[in-house]
Amino acid sequence: MSRIAYVNGRYVPHGEASIHVEDRGYQFADGVYEVCEVRGGALIDARRHLDRLDRSLGALRIAPPMSRAALLLVLRETVRRNTVRNGMVYMQVTRGVARRDHAFPPADTPASIVVTARRSDFAAQEALAATGVKVISLPENRWPRVDIKTVGLLPNVLAKQAAKEAGAREAWFVDAAGHVTEGASTNAWIVTAGGTIVTRPADAGILRGITRTVVLEEARALGYALEERPFTLAEAHAAAEAFITAASTLVMPVIAIDGQAVGDGKPGPVAMRLRQRFHDFAEFSI
Ligand code: PDD
Repeated sequence: MSRIAYVNGRYVPHGEASIHVEDRGYQFADGVYEVCEVRGGALIDARRHLDRLDRSLGALRIAPPMSRAALLLVLRETVRRNTVRNGMVYMQVTRGVARRDHAFPPADTPASIVVTARRSDFAAQEALAATGVKVISLPENRWPRVDIKTVGLLPNVLAKQAAKEAGAREAWFVDAAGHVTEGASTNAWIVTAGGTIVTRPADAGILRGITRTVVLEEARALGYALEERPFTLAEAHAAAEAFITAASTLVMPVIAIDGQAVGDGKPGPVAMRLRQRFHDFAEFSI
């Protein structure tokens, strides 16, 4: 089955899907995106992802390219045409195509929109979770508006590559105060020796992950002690467990930070339980 992409109003073969050379996403990273999990053919937490897309667009003063109802139809149709049962749907909206000039183009310039969907290897993801992943830490070097889910991801790209070259899966950014902010494409969590789940507040310094929001609700419902507060790398090293969350990884145990084992160096029971129960708390929309 060949893959299909949605590009500005048309469903096209993936290999032929293209954007104009003067698209502002291409030239200035002047755009935003969302990644939504697909499970059993349903969109997971689509409402929250679309709320965040609206928020990102609003923060950058990009007019939404279509109504939410229309976008939901496109997401579903892209998932359907690619016969994705379990995987991911990706959407990207940019400020459109215009003669290159840093300032905004004329107000009537339509936003560009692209939607793609792909399957994920369910068994491979579960195997990875059963093993856990390693992370490295790096100094925070992103702009302060990381709450906007922009496609300007160069620091994240470089951090992820550094992690890969170090034999790790993720890089945790550490701010000037010595606190972990988040991963290059995930939110960061620890479980203290006393069993308290800790994650950084989402008011500044991180993207407010949708998976993070759901896991907070889940952890509360399952009766875990929970603290939304910044934590240091030293605390993470002393933690019983660590894990990361994102639509692409769900709850993924972290077994080492900068080459130092977390806890006993195996996926922890809290992270594994949160992973197993995650979809009981997520919103499915067919
Ligand atoms: N990344 N922090 C950053 C910097 C992210 O890029 C992401 C998501 C998250 C987690 O957000 P959510 O739980 O809503 O997926 C946190 C997506 C998956 C990506 O870039 O592929």
